[in-house]
Amino acid sequence: MFDPFQYFSPIEFAFGAGRRSEIPGRLAARGVERVLVVTDAGIVNAGIAEQVERLLIEAGIGVERFTDVKSNPTVENVDAGAAMLTATRAQALVAIGGGSPIDAAKIIGAAAANGCSSHAFMTGERKIEIAGVPLVAVPTTAGSGAESAKVSVLVDHATGEKKGVFGPGTAPWLTVLDPELMVGLPPWLTAATGIDALSHALEAYLGRAASPISDALAEQSMRLVAGYVERAVENGRDLEARSAMTIASALGGLAKEQSGLGILHAVAMPVGYLYDLHHGYLCAALMPATLDCNRSAALAKTAWIGRAFGVSDGDDETAAAQAGSTIRALNERIGLGAGLRESGVRDEDHDRIVADAMTSYLLKNNPITGTPELCREVLVASL
Ligand SMILES: [Fe+2]
Repeated sequence: MFDPFQYFSPIEFAFGAGRRSEIPGRLAARGVERVLVVTDAGIVNAGIAEQVERLLIEAGIGVERFTDVKSNPTVENVDAGAAMLTATRAQALVAIGGGSPIDAAKIIGAAAANGCSSHAFMTGERKIEIAGVPLVAVPTTAGSGAESAKVSVLVDHATGEKKGVFGPGTAPWLTVLDPELMVGLPPWLTAATGIDALSHALEAYLGRAASPISDALAEQSMRLVAGYVERAVENGRDLEARSAMTIASALGGLAKEQSGLGILHAVAMPVGYLYDLHHGYLCAALMPATLDCNRSAALAKTAWIGRAFGVSDGDDETAAAQAGSTIRALNERIGLGAGLRESGVRDEDHDRIVADAMTSYLLKNNPITGTPELCREVLVASL
């Protein structure tokens, strides 16, 4: 049976090597004379922010820069950015970076336009009623999927809250997918972000809210990761491989935006928070067990994933049974083979991790509804 579904994305995507050069013209056509660039110190130090800012300045567009964005953007980061947006009277935002600057910029515009703290959006005390200035998203890593989504995950350290916020105008107006901006990304980060992209496609594909459209997006994302992630890790200057991973990330982000995630991300969140481990690494570490534990409820799709990553023989049962170990072997080939225990996850923290994972709404979308036992099974099998 085909269940009811809907699909909507307000984002225009412009893919192609060097297409960052079109950003000034697109902004000028909207009458923009001054922008606020939202990025972080790492992107500035790597010289990547400058590769976009220079083009804007040469075109006569005024550029102000905001860099105070933590790797999980906080309410304070967003509010400081909103204050700068208001003070500089910039008419557009240009977010350059991984998921964090892009997510921060989505709400910077909204907080400035609605004249309140982003915390009020988190608690539901205020709704985003007025759309902020247009946002151009320029991803510099291929993985987060933030470039494809309207939602922004914010953290409030004072209250311990972490919540997805979205509303009118929070989706990028234009996402520029320029693989040239990724050639300098080191191999380990290329691998970890690439597996994050895969994890979005994979969980959206297996999840209960999957639809024929999100399946199409997810399958193509996974095919591209399977075909190109090792090449991108091996040779960062391989522009074809970088292109494939850039597209895989955007597709995975769209699939996630439409159909949600599952137990892998529910367990990855508390582990990442507790031990400060890279999210993409955690996706790699938890993926084989995620495939194994969900297999009985999503046999044909698990078999499809196994075949996409190289399982060549057998019926669905056999192919699905090998999917987890196939991903484990891929992890090892791209430098992400370390188990969670090796990365510092301690046995005495398991109860806390399971309890935190159980607060995630994502567990309802998992092919088998997440229980404490299932979360523990995935965690222990990933040690
Ligand atoms: Fe993720």
